[in-house]
Amino acid sequence: MARPKISLIGGGQIGGVLAQLCALRELGDVVMFDIVENMPQGKTLDIAEASPVDGFDVSVTGTNDYKDIAGSDVVIVTAGLPRKPGMSRDDLIEVNSKIMTSVSEGIRDNAPDAFVIIISNPLDAMVTLCQKITGFPSERVCGQAGVLDSSRFAAFIAWELGVSVKDVTAITLGGHGDTMVPLVRYASVAGIPVMELLEQKYGDAAKAQEVMTAMVERTKAAGGEVVKLLGNGSAFYSPASSAVAMAESFLKDQKRVLPTCALLDGQYGVDNFYVGVHCVIGAGGIEKILELKLDETEQALMDNSVAAVKELVGSMNL
Ligand code: APR
Repeated sequence: MARPKISLIGGGQIGGVLAQLCALRELGDVVMFDIVENMPQGKTLDIAEASPVDGFDVSVTGTNDYKDIAGSDVVIVTAGLPRKPGMSRDDLIEVNSKIMTSVSEGIRDNAPDAFVIIISNPLDAMVTLCQKITGFPSERVCGQAGVLDSSRFAAFIAWELGVSVKDVTAITLGGHGDTMVPLVRYASVAGIPVMELLEQKYGDAAKAQEVMTAMVERTKAAGGEVVKLLGNGSAFYSPASSAVAMAESFLKDQKRVLPTCALLDGQYGVDNFYVGVHCVIGAGGIEKILELKLDETEQALMDNSVAAVKELVGSMNL
């Protein structure tokens, strides 16, 4: 049986890590597209030349021609500018929507059957634009943000409690911006509510709440924290790992439950907008959207986040 084909649109920082991770995990043959001449060819040649050392039997190639993404099973998009220190993700909308328009046309015309994962920011707006232009069914166009936001939240919890990251479950919902909603009530360590463990650790409910609030705020600002430290560019290892988890769940029909930017159809009171929610990702793409029971405070935070997404998407005048 032929190997699956994964195309990466954008061969910059995230694109490079994506290519290497897909190869190391032998998820399929990788094609990296970029508009910069020779760069994707050079980067993929570098990765491919390590294949005897790393022992992966997939091909990794670069191109400047959209025709080479034909037959893709998965397309992951990172084309677009990253933010600079002091910028919000939303500040990228004008320049990145132009890029996303041409990218979406390239995907529509050359890889009409692909499952598309967008990483470019501002995420919720870029996914909306891509789905509109490709006209692909919404099960096949989604965005990566929630896996990373949740991973950051989980990492902070694991570090705070001194437990394995493998045993932490943490969830963020909503848009991929300052209004995202880390859900404290659903955060757990091996099934034990995190708040219970924090209260045990500090012996004081108020202190536990203070520590949790700090982790929630750090999660919401985590992308900016990395941008500030890097000084030039934004996070790239963790977004790549997160998108690979989504691609793998699709390619292997794992049906993992992953926070994903997906088109809502009434869930959380939202109709026809892309927002981060829990999804089952399998061979059918976004096979199911799981709606959690939110309390009043959580729903208000979700409403606030959805309002921010609607305003951003509205500014594109689609
Ligand atoms: N078509 C294809 N690729 C393009 C286009 C285009 N029209 N315009 C730009 N690119 C490419 C650039 O040449 C560059 O190689 O997109 C790549 C972006 O790479 P980086 O600048 O290194 O950015 P990266 O860190 O990978 O982030 C990409 O993901 O998380 C988001 O905010 C981030 O929007 C940014 C995107």
